[in-house]
Amino acid sequence: MAEQTHITDHPPEGAAADWTVPQDWSAYSAEDHRTWDTLFARQAKLLPGRASEAYLRGLDVLKLSKPGIPDFEELSERLMQLTGWQVVAVPGLVPDDVFFDHMANRRFVAGNFIRRPDQLDYLQEPDVFHDVFGHVPMLADPRFADYLEAYGRGGLRALELGSLKQLSRLYWYTVEFGLIEEPEGLRIYGSGIVSSFSESRFALDDPSPNRIGFDLERVMRTDYRIDDFQQTYFVIPSFDELLRVTIESDFEPLYARNREKPEIAIDTILPEDRVITRGTQDYARGKAKA
Ligand code: PHE
Ligand code: FE
Repeated sequence: MAEQTHITDHPPEGAAADWTVPQDWSAYSAEDHRTWDTLFARQAKLLPGRASEAYLRGLDVLKLSKPGIPDFEELSERLMQLTGWQVVAVPGLVPDDVFFDHMANRRFVAGNFIRRPDQLDYLQEPDVFHDVFGHVPMLADPRFADYLEAYGRGGLRALELGSLKQLSRLYWYTVEFGLIEEPEGLRIYGSGIVSSFSESRFALDDPSPNRIGFDLERVMRTDYRIDDFQQTYFVIPSFDELLRVTIESDFEPLYARNREKPEIAIDTILPEDRVITRGTQDYARGKAKA
């Protein structure tokens, strides 16, 4: 996920100066591998017709259907050939600058632990299933690979400019919870959706959430929730377009302009929004009452 909190500024024992640790693949138990396989089978069945073409292609070319938790070295070798990215293990959350620096250098940091079998649908910190199944297939797409590298550089810059909050919303509403309009209809590509059994249906099928055309400045002003399904999803027309609007614009004046404007609540629809679905918000309201 995008949450990277500053707990300490130096790596824990056993981690390198850049916070990476060995994945220690041989330390996974048979139960760990079974948990991966269970989660994998469940999602793989659900995603055709729901996940974007780029995501499904990544799953295929990276051979993620091979049973068991993927070995990062093997995975990195394939990824390196395709787009020059690697997957490196970290013990958990890392400081923002470390996270962005890896990303700017085409290294995706992934948690190496896996959730317990009684927590298939529950996860507080991103585990290897979220990080690898959710994020890595998109990194096999050259456009998305470029996007995430640029995001890493943009992250280092946003830190200097004190604008991380605005930039994090872009990550949230694209990398984690993005939707795309494909010729056959809406599809999911955000890692938080594709790795979730319930949200991969909710995001596309449920009448509750808003689905709104992606607008960079609008997204940067929009709050998000980390505790439940999103109340609004933003829909990009294509990865080329996402790349174009983010890489070609200088965010510094944008950050400054947005700072003068009010933040936008998670369920608000603005008159200028390109509304694809006007959500009922029944799901969020039901929860609030309960
Ligand atoms: N263009 C952004 C900047 O000026 C960097 C960026 C690129 C951020 C792509 C996110 C994604 O800071
Ligand atoms: Fe994530």
